[in-house]
Amino acid sequence: MKKKIIIANWKMNHDFHKTTSFLRNFLKIVLEKKINHNKEIIIAPSFPFLHISNQILQGTNLKIAAQNIHQMKNGSYTGEVSASMLKSIGISQVILGHSERRKFFLENNDILLKKIKIALKYGLHIILCVGETGFERNQNQQFNVIKNQLVETVFNCSADDIIFFHIAYEPVWAIGTGKNATYKQAQTMHEYIRSLFLNKYGKNISNEISILYGGSISNLNARNFFLQKDIDGGLVGNCSLELDKFLEIIQS
Ligand code: 13P
Repeated sequence: MKKKIIIANWKMNHDFHKTTSFLRNFLKIVLEKKINHNKEIIIAPSFPFLHISNQILQGTNLKIAAQNIHQMKNGSYTGEVSASMLKSIGISQVILGHSERRKFFLENNDILLKKIKIALKYGLHIILCVGETGFERNQNQQFNVIKNQLVETVFNCSADDIIFFHIAYEPVWAIGTGKNATYKQAQTMHEYIRSLFLNKYGKNISNEISILYGGSISNLNARNFFLQKDIDGGLVGNCSLELDKFLEIIQS
């Protein structure tokens, strides 16, 4: 059976103290209760705390992800962080294409493809986010939007590279709103995404690619998402900031 994948995206939350104390407490409980068995758990803290976070989790199967990288290898890009920098501190995962990056930092699919290429060059695993806005769903454009986001980014990669990807379907209207997609809406989109991988890369890859749902996942609704046939896990924002809720989500 495929491992379920639970990812905490902390966004711009938790300072040094909160990050390290959360991770130490989390690790203690995870090891005591062995709740990481048969699951892939990834936490994405802010850039300044990636190194210490990675050190805290060293020797476990828990992983740390960055929330972004710059598309260039290095150079005069004040304030930016490169894939090679992450690699040099032992980070192996990166979230790319989050809708907040698309909206607030104007990342389009062209930029995203460059980020994907440089991430792959440095052997980083990519959690690639896709999702439609509320307006696009109201216009019944959600399937076209998601297809386009995939065609212009990950579908430019070779079959050998797909092993480096998890896809996260995050409807923009469900992020941070408390208004999650219904289980049926999510399952339908996940099935569609899998069918696109089937057409592009064939059966093995489409079966193996993990497709996560994100958007107002909580300790109360996580289980029902994870029971859906094509939902392989979750990308959790707000509810990953509180240890108790996040533990409950993992145990769902
Ligand atoms: P919320 O769980 O807060 O809706 O955030 C989802 C998200 O954006 C994860 O990347």
